[in-house]
Amino acid sequence: GSAPPCLLVLFGARGDLAKRLVMPALYNLKRAGQLDDNFAIIGFDHGDISERNWRRTISDAMYAQATKGGGEFQADGLDEEAWGWLNKRMHYLRGDFTKAADYRALKTQLAELDKRYATEGNVLFYLATAPSFFAPALKELGRAGLVKQGGSNGWRRVIVEKPFGHDLQSARDLNAVVAKVLTEDQVFRIDHFLGKETVQNIQAFRFANGLFEPVWNRDRIDHVQITAAETIGVEGRGRFYDPTGCLRDMVPNHLFQLLAMVAMEPPADFTPQAMLRRRTEVIEAVRPLAPEDVVRGQYAAGTIAGQQVPGYRDEDTVPPTTDTETFVAMKLAIDTWRWAGVPFYLRTGKRMRERTTEVAIRFKPAPLAPFRHTAVGGYGPDWLVLHIQPDEGISLQFDVKRPGYPVSLAPVRMDFRYRDWFPREYSVGYERLLHDCMRGESGLFQDAAMVDAAWRIVQPVLDAWAAQPPTDFPNYPAGSDGPGAADALLALDQGRTWRPLTAGRKPPP
Ligand code: BG6
Repeated sequence: GSAPPCLLVLFGARGDLAKRLVMPALYNLKRAGQLDDNFAIIGFDHGDISERNWRRTISDAMYAQATKGGGEFQADGLDEEAWGWLNKRMHYLRGDFTKAADYRALKTQLAELDKRYATEGNVLFYLATAPSFFAPALKELGRAGLVKQGGSNGWRRVIVEKPFGHDLQSARDLNAVVAKVLTEDQVFRIDHFLGKETVQNIQAFRFANGLFEPVWNRDRIDHVQITAAETIGVEGRGRFYDPTGCLRDMVPNHLFQLLAMVAMEPPADFTPQAMLRRRTEVIEAVRPLAPEDVVRGQYAAGTIAGQQVPGYRDEDTVPPTTDTETFVAMKLAIDTWRWAGVPFYLRTGKRMRERTTEVAIRFKPAPLAPFRHTAVGGYGPDWLVLHIQPDEGISLQFDVKRPGYPVSLAPVRMDFRYRDWFPREYSVGYERLLHDCMRGESGLFQDAAMVDAAWRIVQPVLDAWAAQPPTDFPNYPAGSDGPGAADALLALDQGRTWRPLTAGRKPPP
């Protein structure tokens, strides 16, 4: 249904995120009839531009994205009516994120627009700024009385973008600021992976069926591989990416969310809050990483889809001597009864051979192999693969008898693909999350304990790397599967191998 009336204050209104994701998501929500008529936006940013100018820039970006197509919008261009509705509700206020006076101006404008749009004093603040502004903005919001609830203020909520902290200490500091200014139910620490249908579906797949949960444990599962491989490079984001690096950018947030979905215990009741608690618990049970269980890489020049691409150090927005990693692979242990002894291998990187995000679960072999002496081939591992993107779906790979004689076995696959069963969804991935915030539903966000636990796991690696810069960078060519050390990490562990990045698309041999 429709969200309640509210004003959205978009900090960082001129930024990339606002343009590429937040505004398109609001547009999709409008089209889906999920925004209240009493709704408006205040873009808040330090750029000295007019309201008209801001509307125009965002509009241009929207039209450009819509005509390009690509799955996020209907390819037949922008729905003028929906966009017009939204566009004329876009207001702009120039402001410095750290200046108290500018928050007083914001307060005045909020009061005005609240009256004009009858938004009942409800305000959603979205901190889509550079991360260094999260804490100052929160403090100023608090000081200006903008996040006090009740009276002529309705509800007041704040979305904090990622990255939430730069390491364990800074995440704790930021959580402390949050706790001072807001109650836990007012804060929404966003991780856009939780907005993905295929990620939310992991819980449904596991707990709405009786078939899988009985084998979902150390008795039947050999190990789990979680992959987020990208073909894009740093795409002009070097100023953010280079001081961040691949580990911080992807692991304590996105990859751990996937891990949590796969590894969580079922809650007694399936409210979003109960599910969140279970996800937090399993992240809390992950053993802090030993630096020797982590491999890092940086891409050199190479070829992607026939295109020559530069190495990371030659990217425009990156210093030419940088030691920042663009790839990581690691082995994690989860200290619960369900997962004791089952390694979780995670890998993610930029400029890799294929774009694929998947969770692959490898089952243990049959206890006896009755065809061992007669069969040729076969005994390929049984895999259950959750294809997060692209080619969203789920597949199960197992052995069958190849027709004919003598007996031989062949691995085959059963595939469920979203596109075969459901109409196409037009989404940038933020729609559901924004709508949840407006409804005060925080189950698909991160709580303070989860963020803390995630940084606790990776902190030993951050420390070790800070003390010891890499000696072999760059160590993988663009368009490859990452550095050889990532293969060695698995090979050392009972000769295991990574699933080929193309495995999801090609039929098995
Ligand atoms: C972002 C990272 O959070 O997630 C990017 O900062 C990364 O570096 C992106 O490319 C991946 O998200 P998705 O939804 O494209 O898989």
